[in-house]
Amino acid sequence: MMLLTRLRNALNGLLYQQIVKRIFFAFEPDRVHEEMIRLGHELGSNQLTKALISTMFGTKNIPELNQALHGLHFKNPVGLSGGFDKNAILTDIIPTVGFGFMEIGSITAKASNGNPGRHLWRLPKSKSLIVNYGLSNKGAEEIASRLGKKTFTIPVGINIAKTNCAETNNVDIGIQDYVETYKTFRDIGDFFTINISCPNVTGGQPFHDAQNLDLLLTELEKTPTDKPVFLKISPDLTHQNIDSIIEISNRHHVDGFVCTNLTKRRDLNSIIEKDLPPTGGLSGKVVEPLANELISYIYKKTRGEKTIIGVGGIFSAEDAYKKIRLGASLVELITSMIYQGPQLISEINIGLARLLKKDGFTHIAEAVGADHE
Ligand SMILES: Cc1cc2nc3c(=O)[nH]c(=O)nc-3n(C[C@H](O)[C@H](O)[C@H](O)COP(=O)(O)O)c2cc1C
Repeated sequence: MMLLTRLRNALNGLLYQQIVKRIFFAFEPDRVHEEMIRLGHELGSNQLTKALISTMFGTKNIPELNQALHGLHFKNPVGLSGGFDKNAILTDIIPTVGFGFMEIGSITAKASNGNPGRHLWRLPKSKSLIVNYGLSNKGAEEIASRLGKKTFTIPVGINIAKTNCAETNNVDIGIQDYVETYKTFRDIGDFFTINISCPNVTGGQPFHDAQNLDLLLTELEKTPTDKPVFLKISPDLTHQNIDSIIEISNRHHVDGFVCTNLTKRRDLNSIIEKDLPPTGGLSGKVVEPLANELISYIYKKTRGEKTIIGVGGIFSAEDAYKKIRLGASLVELITSMIYQGPQLISEINIGLARLLKKDGFTHIAEAVGADHE
């Protein structure tokens, strides 16, 4: 059975590289993203097309990849990272592509068109994207009222950021913006990701500052939640920054960290293309070593007591497994799906089962942080 699935994935991969990607890459990435959201919505609104996508891309249950974390059941550890489904349009189709969980958003209190002009650039030589959306989304109220009491078939994380406008640069107003969205989604979704690391918004990343983070978490906690809460942080932090974020998180309801968001750095040898646009954060292989370093650092520092969602540059099962061995319990991706196609999710899951077996592990939990033992 697994052999058939592997064959199916290989064929899909070939089809994607030879035909689909060539068509996609002939258009501007912003436009392709919009069209994919439209198509995904169509496919997700019909039982027949959902069954078709599931047959084409779905992942069979692999018991050694099942995990119960913070009361949530993850049938596999591969999730769709925040920013692909900004307005929660794809919650019906993403599970059929084989993902074990997903984040929606980032969602902000007020609707926003994000930064003016183009939002995305491809860096194919670096296997990266430059992202300059600046948190465009329809706003908490509209998204929440559309989702209503919808139930999801996989855990769905609500990724919250503060509205990208000059007004929220005031720390108190910024905090109230986060709180508004958090309250609006109190009864929707399965976990929260508090995104304090968007690299391309006005006002920078003020909640990486310990004092501001303390204030933000204090205000959020005035509305208690049973849902797990994760903090999404930047790959560009110093160890001193990270230590203070961990220290503040230990005093609050923070169950773990999403490591990491996009990097703002332009001085990395992994960036092969020249003449980059001046603004925007970089994803993919450019961010991978930084994300891995952060996962490792946080895992060691917290002695594995916080759950880590590892994200940044996962293009294969080996890449995902590396993050798991460094300390991640779950992983997420976006960029590789754009470069390699949606069959990658199934490939990663099958590959993870193989890598666990090769190392003598009977369950994924045994591999989490194994590099530090
Ligand atoms: C098109 C795109 C949009 C993104 N938007 C967001 C966002 O709104 N919120 C967020 O937390 N991260 C956002 N990110 C960052 C991703 O969630 C992820 O942290 C980063 O891309 C690294 O993963 P990758 O290398 O697998 O893409 C975005 C990334 C991409 C590629």
